[in-house]
Amino acid sequence: MQFSTFGQKFTRQSGILQLMDDLGQALASDKPVNMLGGGNPAMIPAVNEVYQATLEQLVADGTALNSVANYSTPQGDKAFVDSLVDFFNRHYDWGLTADNIALTNGSQNAFFYLFNLFSGDFGGTDKKILLPLAPEYIGYADAHVDGTHFVAVEPIIDECTHDGQAGFFKYRVDFERLKNLPTLQNGQIGAICVSRPTNPTGNVLTDDEMDKLSAIAQAHDIPLIIDNAYGMPFPNIIYTDTTLNFDDNTILCFSLSKVGLPSVRTGIIVANPAVIKAVLAMNAIINLAPTRFGASLAKPLFDNDEIIRLSQTAILPFYQRQSKLAVRLLKEQFANLPVYIHKPEGAMFLWVWFKDLPITSQELYERLKEQGTLIIPSRHFFVGIDTTQYCHAHECIRLSVAQSDEVLTAGIAMIGEVVRSVYE
Ligand SMILES: Cc1ncc(COP(=O)(O)O)c(C=O)c1O
Repeated sequence: MQFSTFGQKFTRQSGILQLMDDLGQALASDKPVNMLGGGNPAMIPAVNEVYQATLEQLVADGTALNSVANYSTPQGDKAFVDSLVDFFNRHYDWGLTADNIALTNGSQNAFFYLFNLFSGDFGGTDKKILLPLAPEYIGYADAHVDGTHFVAVEPIIDECTHDGQAGFFKYRVDFERLKNLPTLQNGQIGAICVSRPTNPTGNVLTDDEMDKLSAIAQAHDIPLIIDNAYGMPFPNIIYTDTTLNFDDNTILCFSLSKVGLPSVRTGIIVANPAVIKAVLAMNAIINLAPTRFGASLAKPLFDNDEIIRLSQTAILPFYQRQSKLAVRLLKEQFANLPVYIHKPEGAMFLWVWFKDLPITSQELYERLKEQGTLIIPSRHFFVGIDTTQYCHAHECIRLSVAQSDEVLTAGIAMIGEVVRSVYE
């Protein structure tokens, strides 16, 4: 069968297809798999109890049926949009109105819209999305309808300690290179985008770094897109002190996925009214309307700030605990090897750097998969970077810590065994 250029681009093997495929197969498999790969959130009992009770209430009072039996407008479920206006205005001084918010079918859907709105062909100029800190979220890589329009800057690698231990590093934005990028100087950047905390590394850009990015975006009259999938105020998987800012030039993307509701496919965009109008027009063409089920489930939890309580008392502590356990297990496995862990500052991942590993992390992924342990190799995350000459991009892996102690222990032991044999 022959497909169009669009068809060929969207049906080829991509990093995100491999990741979601591995994830689905691992979840459906009857053989034990140490699933340290995808970004599925953990099932946290204290959180699920609240969802279960809320669902029962919504079914009992007819809200659940009403939400699935009727389309919303292309902006999304009106009652939830109004709740979100109140919610954000209660917690931040952003002065939002309903014109500042649109819902999407997951935030992946939001990035598809935003990247295609702000990059690609602008009447003869090819504009790109600037990713200031590589590595970045693998799910961005293939989002353009036509071609690939990303520019990224290799990070500064700062070796550091963590909880008094050596063997850690932190990526920092190379602002000197960023400011002098020819594409930025020549008006070929359509928007800047960062995930904060960053998937895959668990890095949290500092407030100072965010202020600088915001100033660069303002100076070039382009939006700063902040992917808040793991950020504040929900699920709030952040271990550092940070603030979240919003202004007319900022586009904030939130998601219900990492609070434990990935399959309701609900994303939230907060932006100036012109962006929101564009998003809802795209919603109408691509989806008719965003799904309402997640909105109706979330509404009561946003109305009484339960979502914040769950984030602080159950979600954040769960991931922080698993992250600490995984760090300890990794340290035990790699005591005398040149293995470094990115300083864990948030999200649900650890990023591990096997310096001078004799094989690529893609090959390591394949060897581990054969043994029933899934991780994600690093190359796919260096979106917008030519990785052919960049060794570091082939020396890291991402591990999800959204797993039980048993799976983390078995999976990391397997990684230790395979990696030690490769170094030897
Ligand atoms: C950084 C980041 N952004 C966006 C998404 C997309 O999430 P969803 O479409 O489920 O909201 C993910 C999912 O893993 C992510 O990790």
